Amino acid sequence: MKIPDHVIDEIARKTDIVDLVGRYVALRRQGNEYVGKSPFTNEKTPSFFVNPDKGVYHCFSSNKGGGVFSFLMEVEKLSFREAAEMLAERAGIELQQASDDPHERRRRSMIELYNRVSGSFRYLFLSSDGAAASRSYMQGRSISNEILEAYAVGYAPADAKWLHQFLLRKQYTAEFLSQTGLFTRRDATRALFQDRIMFPIHSARGDVIAFGGRRMGDFGPKYLNSADTPLFHKGETLYGLFQALQQMRQSRTVYLAEGYMDVLALAQAGIKNAVAPLGTAFTERQANLVRRYVDTVILLFDADSAGLRATSKAAVLAEAAGLDCEVCALPAGSDPADILEQSGAGELQKTAMYTIKVFDYLLNQSLTGRDELSSSGREFVLTELFPYIRSVESAVKRDGMLQRLADRLGIDREAMREDFFRGSERSEIRQPATQPTREPATIDLFLMLATIANRQFYSFVRKTLSLGDLRDERAKEVFVALEECYRREEESMESLLARIEQPETVQIITERLLSDEFSVNADKAIRDAVFRIKERSLREQQRRVDSQLRRAHAATGDTGIEDLLQEKMVLNRELQKLRVIFNDRTAE
Ligand code: UTP
Ligand code: MN
Repeated sequence: MKIPDHVIDEIARKTDIVDLVGRYVALRRQGNEYVGKSPFTNEKTPSFFVNPDKGVYHCFSSNKGGGVFSFLMEVEKLSFREAAEMLAERAGIELQQASDDPHERRRRSMIELYNRVSGSFRYLFLSSDGAAASRSYMQGRSISNEILEAYAVGYAPADAKWLHQFLLRKQYTAEFLSQTGLFTRRDATRALFQDRIMFPIHSARGDVIAFGGRRMGDFGPKYLNSADTPLFHKGETLYGLFQALQQMRQSRTVYLAEGYMDVLALAQAGIKNAVAPLGTAFTERQANLVRRYVDTVILLFDADSAGLRATSKAAVLAEAAGLDCEVCALPAGSDPADILEQSGAGELQKTAMYTIKVFDYLLNQSLTGRDELSSSGREFVLTELFPYIRSVESAVKRDGMLQRLADRLGIDREAMREDFFRGSERSEIRQPATQPTREPATIDLFLMLATIANRQFYSFVRKTLSLGDLRDERAKEVFVALEECYRREEESMESLLARIEQPETVQIITERLLSDEFSVNADKAIRDAVFRIKERSLREQQRRVDSQLRRAHAATGDTGIEDLLQEKMVLNRELQKLRVIFNDRTAE
């Protein structure tokens, strides 16, 4: 039913636009108006104006404007009717129910159904015998009844038929039920969630729109999530958002954890502004969603390598959405729920308090446990740190990060900048599969390529080998170039490549270095190659000396024999020394 005009007027009159907008945007007074950052775009310079006298807002970056209704519709993605209902409720005005629009009616019935089912699951969790194990499970994980209540944690019974029968008795039609996403596709009378702890997923306004369920029995995946429905899209919703909103708005900060249990654990420790994605990676839409309420995201992912990837990816998205991003470094292998369970709420609180900037976190990660940047550390800089720095909007900040990165890694700042900017072009080149080179690779060339990829070993290479030890002309050219760069302390790829004349060699280098082949066990590979090349070289010299000796014997009375024998001895000793040194190395 259409809402009468006079009711709409009344709602508008009773709604303070500054108060309403102020829930989403930090506003600052400026003359007769208020100004803040647009909740619709990711702007960094405030261009969003509210005029309380006229009851209107205008966003100059998206060119959207209007009154309280259109603001709420836009910011919460609501229909006019939903916005009117929300505002009416805020203003204490009764609205007559029910719309004529069949889509709208169906949507409402769905919401009503989900809310009702959630209530039933909650009831079953609290009072059914079947939920006894679930109750003690939650207790064992140190989640209090108060938190379980706030998040409406429920229980779906093991009986697959129960839900359908229950809802039929509540006058829902089988046809309608089959489209709710609560039943299996093959048999629309069997419940999707059986014998599971149920986590209702709420919309930002507090309606249940989907469920996540944790397995209690032995069957099925550990967590099961509702399929997408017209009400619910995984990538656009966050678990715990509704419960977190108040504290998010107050603190302008949100904690992003990995899963349902982590959100509950954080809330248990008093950190109510915690949310989690729904079984997928953090998405751009989710970043924009939280951007409406906060300025800062704190990432609370596991410190394992998957968590590290997730951290840098989420950071890139958050940064691109105009959010500041910080990281809370968790002890390896534990998530917030583990910390709560093992060490208590106080410990979790403490852990959550110490946050560091993403940049510092990623920088530390690229150097952990190493004095110099190893090849995998370099790879990390390329694949994780550079993309993050690129996502930072402010050029000044970006430059500051590059400088710090260069200083910390002991690399020339200009060279670092070159690498950075070339890297952005290269990331496109990275996509097409790079074929291994067609050139017959020699061990000489292999060593040079591996050294280019792991420059910190060059000083070792030059100590052991000299130009005369190499046979491959391409490798010789690279060796000379490496030596020049080394003496000038130039570490960038650009300056190395500029010293190589053969285009074919340049091509081999760029092609091969795009693969990961030199990043694993690089030190061992380089030592092996150096040993083999040096040994080959010494043997060659031995052979030369031997043949000269033979000739000298033939030409009786020749005087050079003494010198040759001396040289032969030196070579023997060197070979022996070489084997000892390198055997020692491999034994380490
Ligand atoms: P985890 O496997 O890390 O579980 O999944 P967890 O959150 O630590 O859960 P507990 O502590 O074992 O109870 C993290 C998130 O990934 C999704 C869920 O959203 C979960 O919260 N997930 C996990 C699934 O969607 N399906 C699965 O089978 C597992
Ligand atoms: Mn866990």
